Amino acid sequence: MIRRITGFSKFSKEEKIDWLVKAFFNKQSITKETLKSYWNTNEKLQRLHDDFIENTISNFYLPYGVAPNFIINDVDYTIPMVIEESSVVAAASLVGKFWSTRGGFKATILGTTKIGQVHFMYAGRFSELQSYFKAIKSDLIDSTSAITTNMRKRGGGILDIELRSKTAELDNYYQLNITFETKDSMGANFINSCLEVIATRFQKEGIQIVMSILSNYAPGCTVKAEVSCKIEELIQGTSEIDPEVYAQKFKTAVDIANVEPHRAVTHNKGIMNGIDAVVLATGNDFRAIEACAHAYAAKDGRYKSLTHCEVKEGFFKFWIEIPLAVGTVGGLTALHPMAKLSLEMLQNPSAEELMKIIAVAGLAQNFAALRALTTTGIQKGHMKMHLMNILNQLGATIEEKEKTISYFENVSVTHSAVHEFYKTLK
Ligand code: MEV
Repeated sequence: MIRRITGFSKFSKEEKIDWLVKAFFNKQSITKETLKSYWNTNEKLQRLHDDFIENTISNFYLPYGVAPNFIINDVDYTIPMVIEESSVVAAASLVGKFWSTRGGFKATILGTTKIGQVHFMYAGRFSELQSYFKAIKSDLIDSTSAITTNMRKRGGGILDIELRSKTAELDNYYQLNITFETKDSMGANFINSCLEVIATRFQKEGIQIVMSILSNYAPGCTVKAEVSCKIEELIQGTSEIDPEVYAQKFKTAVDIANVEPHRAVTHNKGIMNGIDAVVLATGNDFRAIEACAHAYAAKDGRYKSLTHCEVKEGFFKFWIEIPLAVGTVGGLTALHPMAKLSLEMLQNPSAEELMKIIAVAGLAQNFAALRALTTTGIQKGHMKMHLMNILNQLGATIEEKEKTISYFENVSVTHSAVHEFYKTLK
């Protein structure tokens, strides 16, 4: 069997699938059927998705859910979330509602600038390079004017260009560190186009341009979201938990994430459950957001929590500070019908508003996780959803699901226990 191919990208979709199933699958017709069952019957829509990437052969669904009852800066939101992990939307919904009766979330933008860099090598004297840069700096900015016209009209563009010597880290290595404001667009294409033009103009004997690329590390594009309440308001209903003890334990959980990177990674992963889900639903680049968030978490030299907690003078305060370079115009936000729909659900936010909403989704997720971890543990909630997944795999009817869920109210959920109980229903 030949498992290598040339000219694959030129094949039609059918031809690609034919080759693939012959080369790698035993049950060829079932595999073909599965792949085709995920094609959209609306051909125009399918073509749109086909064209997002090369060699598309089908679609890969993820659930699209919503978490209602979020109040952010006194505005009501229902937050769209794309995620496969069973407990995330349920947790967001609970937390949204919880804080809606305690003043909601407050969010503020700390900055919106982004960075692009031209990396180059230069073996000559630094003072000469500095003189050359000083003389050409405004020219470098002018050279991009054709690209930046529209952005400048929207209040964005190049804010500054700095020459930086990095020779202490790497012999002969320098960079042009360029600060951008890209308003409502994420700005990757804009920044990269500007950088390439600048690099072409930045020519002097001895300068060797290595590469020109935006930095996905965007600490200048940061948002803060927070919640606070009186400590006694932290506990709902008739719970016997002492609110003061609970608040302190919650804070200790955050403190642990600040001193223990193993815990911090899981802690921040929980935050990213909420963040990535909204980033995906709005057509933004979750890899860029992830890479940046984790670099930010390590900005003090140790990987730490992205959230913070204070229990002081009778008040509980919990907040997140995180860079979120997202856009609400351009890219997939304009192309993907579901991304557009998500943005409409969020009342067509500016990029700054979207940063606030996404930060809130991350904070809410972390609140849910820490609340569960420091009280009942997370398995109780997770297992409910796990049970539903097993029942769906088994093809259970609504009635069978109801009976099984009620049976497992007080019985531990394991794969084999559910299978055993399910057999008794049959
Ligand atoms: C699971 O996806 C996320 C949690 O592990 C986060 C945490 O431990 O804080 C529950």
